[in-house]
Amino acid sequence: MKKTEKTSNLMDKIISLTKRRGFIFQSSEIYGGFGSCYDFGPLGVEMKNNIKKIWWKEMTRLHENIVGLDASILMSPKVWQASGHLTAGFADELVECKKCHHRFRKDLLDSEKCPDCGGELTAPKKFNLMMKTFVGALEDEAAVTYLRAETCQGIYLNFNNVMQSLRLKVPFGIAQIGKAFRNEITPKDFIYRTREFEQMEMQWFCSPKEADKFFDYWLEERMNWYFKLGIKKENLRAKETPKKELAHYAKRAVDIEYKFPFGWKEIEGVHHRGDWDLSNHSKNSGQDLSYCDETTKEKYYPYVIETSVGADRSLFAFLCDAYKEIEGGRTETTESAKEIEVILNLHKSISPVKVAVFPLMKNKEDISAKAKEIYQMLKVDFVCKYDESGSIGKRYRRQDEVGTPLCVTVDFDSLENNDVTVRDRDTMKQERVKVKDLNQKVMEFLNG
Ligand code: GAP
Repeated sequence: MKKTEKTSNLMDKIISLTKRRGFIFQSSEIYGGFGSCYDFGPLGVEMKNNIKKIWWKEMTRLHENIVGLDASILMSPKVWQASGHLTAGFADELVECKKCHHRFRKDLLDSEKCPDCGGELTAPKKFNLMMKTFVGALEDEAAVTYLRAETCQGIYLNFNNVMQSLRLKVPFGIAQIGKAFRNEITPKDFIYRTREFEQMEMQWFCSPKEADKFFDYWLEERMNWYFKLGIKKENLRAKETPKKELAHYAKRAVDIEYKFPFGWKEIEGVHHRGDWDLSNHSKNSGQDLSYCDETTKEKYYPYVIETSVGADRSLFAFLCDAYKEIEGGRTETTESAKEIEVILNLHKSISPVKVAVFPLMKNKEDISAKAKEIYQMLKVDFVCKYDESGSIGKRYRRQDEVGTPLCVTVDFDSLENNDVTVRDRDTMKQERVKVKDLNQKVMEFLNG
């Protein structure tokens, strides 16, 4: 889809907000930037950690049959031979413009001409996406290995270790969060497609007979996860991948797509990988990764249903979904009727800062001291921000813009009555709360 002025304008605004307010910075910016790599700033890292924490809890603690793993990024290069990633299976078709020499992924082009200058394109060439590196002192062929292109391979390699050490029985799952790397030809759309990213993957091992049933189960679970975290129904859809476009390992795949300002795009894949991984690693390693069902005595390679989501991509979707502009502003906070107020309606569990504390006035020492005391108390349990600069209206707006669900104001009455005003980002309702009840109140609100 071609970017209209409106969508690129919206993207520009979101990107500008993420930089201005400390969510996301271009990597190596002071050296002119390093293509397609990004750094998560103080608010970005809190937000990404929240997403990972929620996913991890949902997939491991709340699910009695799923356990966690943290495998290494570097693995034997034999792994990538067996998985099919070093062969044509994990390659994109690359074309180059004969005039401006820009390169593009063939499958992402709408026309036969260069989208940048209209020049003629070369015939497509296969381009492998694995990132090569060397291990050890010698940089020869024997020292070559790869940065992992998907985290799940470490899970397959540890299938027996995990199953035996925890005495698990099929069906069960292994979940993992970690970095993955791909030498993408056309990284683009901010953090949507980058060369270094984080994946949250769960591999569900089941009997071949039950694979279709579990595929449907996991697809529904994963769609609901986004809805529970506030993604709007109209912005999420499940899209079946046509057979001829399936990845080399997949029998079936459904993309969970989010409606970004630049169009519908995949944020998560639910994949039926059949026995591709365990059977190939068995053959290539010589180690038996099959499973024997104790009751039926059947022996088989468990089928894998995979759920695979990018932590960065989902963060981007959550940001886009939460971004809201209110022309003229909301009465309480806007100083000029012409101003546009920006609110990030992030789900409170994802918001990077949970509560902000303001003294009503900066120059009243006793109010500031009381506010600082309350800040010290709250920050033990919550990511908390203290702010005393500018008018109260401005401070509310600064917090609304980064999605802080609660603001606490300390005023003259607080000194007398030992209470504060708590203001809700979304309803803007204000409530007087005793300081002794404040922690409990914030906790209940955030868990509610
Ligand atoms: N293990 C299966 C697998 O890796 P995938 O569809 O290639 O499947 C899964 O990737 C998810 O990882 C995607 O839905 C996306 O969220 C994330 N992802 C993949 N490539 C990415 C990239 N270059 N930049 C950011 N995220 C990426």
